[in-house]
Amino acid sequence: MASGPLGALEAIFGRNKEEHPEPLRAEVTGEIPSWMEGILLRNGPGMHTIGESKYNHWFDGMALLHSFTIKNGEVFYRSKYLRSDTYNCNIEANRIVVSEFGTMAYPDPCKNIFAKAFCYLSHTIPEFTDNCLINIMRNGEDIYATSEVNFIRKINPQTLETLEKVDYTKYVAINLATSHPHYDSAGNVLNMGTSIVDKGKTKYVIFKIPSAAPEVMCTIPSRSLLHPSYYHSFGMSENYIIFVEQPFKLDILKMATAYIRGVNWASCLIFHKDDKTWIHLIDKRTKKVTSTKFYTDAMVLFHHVNAYEEDDHVVFDVISYTDNSLYQMFYLKNLDSNFENNVKLAAIPTCKRFVLPLQCDKVVKFDILTKKRIHWEEEHCWPAEPIFVPSPNTKEEDDGRRHDSSVTGEAGIILSAIVTSEPEKLPFLLILDAKTFKEIARATVNVELHLDLHGCFIPQKDLKTEHEGDLDKELE
Ligand SMILES: [Fe+2]
Repeated sequence: MASGPLGALEAIFGRNKEEHPEPLRAEVTGEIPSWMEGILLRNGPGMHTIGESKYNHWFDGMALLHSFTIKNGEVFYRSKYLRSDTYNCNIEANRIVVSEFGTMAYPDPCKNIFAKAFCYLSHTIPEFTDNCLINIMRNGEDIYATSEVNFIRKINPQTLETLEKVDYTKYVAINLATSHPHYDSAGNVLNMGTSIVDKGKTKYVIFKIPSAAPEVMCTIPSRSLLHPSYYHSFGMSENYIIFVEQPFKLDILKMATAYIRGVNWASCLIFHKDDKTWIHLIDKRTKKVTSTKFYTDAMVLFHHVNAYEEDDHVVFDVISYTDNSLYQMFYLKNLDSNFENNVKLAAIPTCKRFVLPLQCDKVVKFDILTKKRIHWEEEHCWPAEPIFVPSPNTKEEDDGRRHDSSVTGEAGIILSAIVTSEPEKLPFLLILDAKTFKEIARATVNVELHLDLHGCFIPQKDLKTEHEGDLDKELE
């Protein structure tokens, strides 16, 4: 056994861990509150060497489940390798025969159930591993080990036994999925995945797992067919799902040829430092992406921290990096005695807060005396500067002059040219009651209206008399 810093790192990252399937009583010092009872379930890589073969990356190791059961102030520990098809194949072959993200494996096509893996040569999307090593997911009373692909494995939370394999693709067309789902107040699971080049489209899919089976809630087209963004998690507030489409992208063509080129899939993830990071908000109530898009500079993020809504804004926090060096750091070859230097070379994590306005581009009337406001808005509509036209029978404010009478006159009018972001929806001139902000009329025009800046309204009585009648002539 090696000693010193190198030995310690090898022990933490590289050395295969023994499993302890039977409960081991832990020695407790201090006192655990009597209400604190249950099982802490954890997941992560525990085996990086199989026979003579070794994984390249720490995130590739065989999933080792472990648990701390807390009961009557006592703690019991156990651990068990996930008996995935991948694990069983590897152990039977006594070498790595199934590819993981950072390690490409070349199995004997005749000798294992992963013969389908040879579809790599003819299909874009490979048959992925079921070595679900990243997280634990709850779905009602059912517990699953998860990773970032279409397979999840049900487990027994008490014994850590491996149960059935669930394939998301039987319910929703996705190839990748996050291992950081969210849960709604009813206990449903909300997760996101990427559907790669399915029926000529690449898209991000938000799906819900009610008790029966996963179902699609909303889809977001990928900005690029062959370069979808990689994402490890997404955000959720009370009414919105926050998806950050970062310029850290999967190159599908590189991935399709990785097997023949003899490189791992991780090498197909590329950070485009000059691209933008796009932020999408999905309204959980309408199950639609909001029409307003937000973007920021290029960044890499893995984990969302928090998200909430306040004063018509969505606020969310993420841990972001300036590049992808974090993933590179966990290649086992970098987890050596130079580890501390390697860590220094990696991008520094930064906690970033984004505050996105939910109510932009609408027409708002704000009363500075009462601090009350009223507004007009419509989906896909981008109002231009509102112009107030006083009523000729002015009696009070919003009729056209300062409020000095209780007599109500005819209301003034607000005019605004509306450009729409929905191709099927025609632009129009919006005509609002200035007092109530209720729509009085709209005049739709079948032209490509541009989003204008400023202007003014000239009443008929102020027009030069020689201009009168010009319109009638033109329309003749
Ligand atoms: Fe994570």
